[in-house]
Amino acid sequence: MKPIFYDVSFVKSITELQHKPEERLPEVAFAGRSNVGKSSLLNAIFNRRKLVKTSSIPGKTQLINYFLVNEIAYFVDLPGYGYTKISSKVSAKWQKMVEHYILNSAELRLICLLIDSRHSLQKSDEQMSDWLNYKNLPYLVVLTKTDKLSRNKLAVQVKYFKEHFPDHHVVPFSVSSEKAKSDLSTLIQQLI
Ligand code: GTP
Ligand code: MG
Repeated sequence: MKPIFYDVSFVKSITELQHKPEERLPEVAFAGRSNVGKSSLLNAIFNRRKLVKTSSIPGKTQLINYFLVNEIAYFVDLPGYGYTKISSKVSAKWQKMVEHYILNSAELRLICLLIDSRHSLQKSDEQMSDWLNYKNLPYLVVLTKTDKLSRNKLAVQVKYFKEHFPDHHVVPFSVSSEKAKSDLSTLIQQLI
């Protein structure tokens, strides 16, 4: 099946909003803890193996990366938060950069908040979602790496997260599931 996001190219990486792409288009941002799978998710829904740089070592994405999608929107890969092994000075800098981006992007239509499906809600995820709620920003929750869970355990986790986020979409995702890729792409397309 042809992917929904078929025409994708890297535009630029920035640290400051004054350097964002000149053409203004709706933006979808991907946020979550370091290593949760943000960059991998983008490759998966773009059907590109290596367009977005990923790593098994947390802290790979350090800049705000813009990708032009179908010439109608930017998908924005953000640095992760919550990784304690990065010096607190560096992680505070990323955190500030991400918060500044989220608060000051007039074109931001949707935030995909990625959470590891295998665990209970981490403190940093809770802080992020509380902050998004407080700022009244539109977001959906993506539960990543579901291929690492049994069907039963996944059902338990989905129920747990749906109870925690009763007012938001909660979608399971794995880079190795064609159905998950198609479902998430369809939902994003509908919401923007
Ligand atoms: P930072 O850029 O450091 O914030 O991380 P990130 O959230 O962009 O994570 P990234 O996509 O680089 O992936 C981190 C690790 O998780 C890599 O080793 C990926 O291969 C792995 N990973 C990502 N998605 C999945 C998935 O759906 N299933 C499995 N099994 N592994 C995944
Ligand atoms: Mg990344």
